[in-house]
Amino acid sequence: MEDHDLDTIFEQTTDAEAVRMAAFTSENQFDRGAFLDRMSRIRADQGVWHRVIEVDGAVAGTIGSFHLDNRREVTYWIDRRQWGNGIASAALQLLLAEIDERPIYGRAASDNAGSLRVLEKAGFRRVGVDRGYAPGRGEEIEETILRLD
Ligand SMILES: CC(C)(COP(=O)(O)OP(=O)(O)OC[C@H]1O[C@@H](n2cnc3c(N)ncnc32)[C@H](O)[C@@H]1OP(=O)(O)O)[C@@H](O)C(=O)NCCC(=O)NCCS
Repeated sequence: MEDHDLDTIFEQTTDAEAVRMAAFTSENQFDRGAFLDRMSRIRADQGVWHRVIEVDGAVAGTIGSFHLDNRREVTYWIDRRQWGNGIASAALQLLLAEIDERPIYGRAASDNAGSLRVLEKAGFRRVGVDRGYAPGRGEEIEETILRLD
């Protein structure tokens, strides 16, 4: 990820439909200053694996992996104009080839069919559900937890 990618990433991660779908976004998803602070922290953190997904030389999204409560998790976000082209699936395969720590976890709002499919296609299995406040929805919703062993 480079400085010149940030405008595009901010635009992609503030798309209203995508924010609603992802649901478990940050509290201040639409605040550009907060976004830049968050990106600076992520880029400086050696423990966070974070990549831009490039397709034909352009930023198609981002994918990352980090530790949360001693569990390794994955996360991704694709430009809405490029949904359904297999980009998240391909990027997740690249991540899983590069990061060999297992188990590795994924989480998605239980109604985020696209994200659940991306994870299940990669071999993740549903291991539980959680409920929590989802800033992208402004309400508490159910989240599905998946694990790849
Ligand atoms: C979820 C998301 C990452 C999927 O990215 P994508 O590049 O479109 O996914 P892919 O093209 O690799 O699709 C993988 C599978 O999911 C299916 N899928 C994708 N979006 C779907 C949707 N909205 N509803 C149902 N299935 C969907 C595809 O058909 C495909 O299945 P198939 O191979 O059996 O045909 C993308 O929609 C996105 O970035 N959403 C906003 C952010 C987000 O929700 N991130 C995940 C947070 S947990």
